[in-house]
Amino acid sequence: MILNGNPDIILSMKYGYFDQASKEYVIDRIDVPVSWTNYIGVNELCGVFNHTAGGYLFYKSPEYHRITRFRPNGVPMDRPGHYVYVRDDDTGDYWTLSWQPVGKSLDKAKYVCRHGLSYIKYQCEYSGIWGQQTLFIPLDDPVEIWDVILRNNSGKRRRLSVFGYTEFSFHHIQIDNQNFQMSLYASGSSYKDGIMELDLFYEDNGFQYFTADNTNDDASDFDCLRDVFIGQYRTETNPEAVERGICSGSFELGGNHCGALRRVIELEPDAEIRLLFLLGEGNRDAGKKTRSKYCAPGFSEVDTAFKTLGNFWKEKLEKLQINTPHDGMNVMLNTWTLYQAEINVIFSRFASFIEVGGRTGLGYRDTSQDAMMVPHSNPEKSRSRLVELLKGLTTHGYGLHLFSPEWFEKQTKAAFKSPTVVPLPPMSQRVHGISDACADDALWLIPSIAEYIRETGDFDFAEEKFTYADTYNPETNEGMSETVFDHMKRILDFSAREIGPHGICKGLRADWNDCLNLGGGESAMVSFLHHWALVHFCALGKRLGKDVSKYEEMTAKVRESCERDLWNGSWYTRGFTASGRGIGTPASKEGKVHMESNTWAVLSGAASHDHGIAAMDAVDQFLYTPYGLKLCDPAFSEPDDEVGFVTRVYKGLKENAAIFSHPNPWAWAAEAVLGRGDRAMKFYDALCPYNQNDKIEVRKAEPYMYCQFIAGPDHSAFGRAHHPFMTGSAGWSYFAATRFMLGIRPDFDSLVVDPCVPAEWPSFTVRRVWRNAVYNITVENPDKVSKGVRECKLNGQSVKCGKAGAEIPVQGKGSENQVTVIMG
Ligand code: GLC
Repeated sequence: MILNGNPDIILSMKYGYFDQASKEYVIDRIDVPVSWTNYIGVNELCGVFNHTAGGYLFYKSPEYHRITRFRPNGVPMDRPGHYVYVRDDDTGDYWTLSWQPVGKSLDKAKYVCRHGLSYIKYQCEYSGIWGQQTLFIPLDDPVEIWDVILRNNSGKRRRLSVFGYTEFSFHHIQIDNQNFQMSLYASGSSYKDGIMELDLFYEDNGFQYFTADNTNDDASDFDCLRDVFIGQYRTETNPEAVERGICSGSFELGGNHCGALRRVIELEPDAEIRLLFLLGEGNRDAGKKTRSKYCAPGFSEVDTAFKTLGNFWKEKLEKLQINTPHDGMNVMLNTWTLYQAEINVIFSRFASFIEVGGRTGLGYRDTSQDAMMVPHSNPEKSRSRLVELLKGLTTHGYGLHLFSPEWFEKQTKAAFKSPTVVPLPPMSQRVHGISDACADDALWLIPSIAEYIRETGDFDFAEEKFTYADTYNPETNEGMSETVFDHMKRILDFSAREIGPHGICKGLRADWNDCLNLGGGESAMVSFLHHWALVHFCALGKRLGKDVSKYEEMTAKVRESCERDLWNGSWYTRGFTASGRGIGTPASKEGKVHMESNTWAVLSGAASHDHGIAAMDAVDQFLYTPYGLKLCDPAFSEPDDEVGFVTRVYKGLKENAAIFSHPNPWAWAAEAVLGRGDRAMKFYDALCPYNQNDKIEVRKAEPYMYCQFIAGPDHSAFGRAHHPFMTGSAGWSYFAATRFMLGIRPDFDSLVVDPCVPAEWPSFTVRRVWRNAVYNITVENPDKVSKGVRECKLNGQSVKCGKAGAEIPVQGKGSENQVTVIMG
């Protein structure tokens, strides 16, 4: 932002803190500069909300089954939401438990937002009433619970009205936003038995309900029509019904619908009341059932469901807990980075405030990487994602760049056809040709499969058979099927076949970098990935007793071409354009040094040690900034379609020399491979959101999440982070920090401990659960080294140590083991 020279920049701005005990991020200064979001729901019903209860809820799909409406990128921001209004019935004054939408002055009201693991608490103290609205979704039921507590701290008796309010959406995001001749006449609302029901007439099972704990015996008032509740020429800030202190009992077939229920309460001094609102998937009967479950006296089912949700996350986090001299790393890895990685594997990239549901399905490369990051905490989801991706692979060996898993699964849909049911595209449109293939997509799947097996020991998975996308017949639900191992071969053969004149893999439509469309050229990144995938594949194949000699030869050949054609004397070239021009060479005027080629040269194991050192020194020299590593340098300024779209992106943003977060952990891992623990930590620290908790005037975005990118030094907003949560940097930072820096890496038959840490670290501990046994690992560093293990004891007995660290053999299920590792 350029403010024409206003120098009044307030430094050290912070808005909250990490609460270690509750594992919440607590926003205690609520006027954060941009939306600070969180996700609730981990199964079919899910929502994304900001720090002021703005956001949306969906069932399975935010594109086709959006329950509540959201006006993205709007003014005021992040409206509408799931709001609780409180009205003082003696004075007529009213507010919301979340700061917005009423937005009381922060001089008079205190608001706090606690972002927890799959829940959010909005707290407010105003006019002597303390209130809290907790939003969460039980693991077992598709219902969003609004658990509301109000306490009277005013010292006098208070008469209050409490309104729960939410605006319903017509399920289809596109119809909801564009086709009002349909959406406005095909949805109806009604109120009966204390349950507000939304009915999407064109849909077979298009029902939602909104109810509250008191409504079955109270004649509470309600509104089902948004415009009646809000009133004309008003907004959620000053709804007419709240101002007036009573709803109108509106409902109608057709129109815009809301769930609005008013409760009337009286609170003696110091008294507290707990109320529930329930917003759920299903019809009135489903609502009644859910209400009787959760609203039984004492609300014990709500407490149980909340506790179960807590345990769900606790169990995941307990799979790997660290205690190092680095507080930020402890907080991030023990809670937030794993949480972010898990959210990515669940939601892919389709639900956020950036991707608001218009693009659903799985991106091949993103999902392949996401699935690699959480096999220890979510083996079921990792596996199901891998299976979906295997079915989305073509017999040619390339993956479908963006696809919906249900395209290749038996449909159990009812025969009912409505104008809103989007038919599945015909097969010809599901499977794209090679011209739309991205050269890296399927290569990511190979290490993901290997890592899944290393974690779980599920070797049989390699022999399971799955269909290929281009042979799948939706009528019969059949197609040519081959083993997972064969799928992997086809991927590797594809990359071996699709090479350009230098012998480097073709870039095809793009490689990992969406904007560097190599337009018929060659990509160093893909050749290095090919090498990496081959190394994983051969190791797995050998462990399975297969003949992998063909692929060992392929590995050697790829390595040779990489060293011959990509080492440019100073660092690794990024690729070649269609006309053979080098990208990312010392001779390049712009885009001279790139992250992808240099980090992957090392990570893939293809680079020699000396070249690896030089390449990563170039990364440090050209790409380092205090907020993380830039993707390339110098930024492109001249459109050059042979290089790609990146040359048409503003300097310092996105792929054009911004600090693109996703590749940053590649550099930490590469430095760990090279044994430079201090350098790895320097890079880790630069990107670490925790370190920017007190620099929100620069970062703007939430400090508990990695963001897709941070504006680079070429941009006026250098340091500003954009697009939280949904980014491959979540999983990659977890993977690189735990497996490479702390060096705790499952292998097929052993747990490897091979740390690369700052030399000054005296020691650290890791508690790792692996294959149903606990490993309490203490790493001592008496000689102040960064890498190297000279001694290891497992339960007092010496264990094999080599160049690649200590190898701890698999221990019995249920056992608790003490591991001591001495670096040196
Ligand atoms: C986005 C895409 C990802 C891509 C990256 C770099 O994050 O989701 O697939 O690799 O940008 O272009």
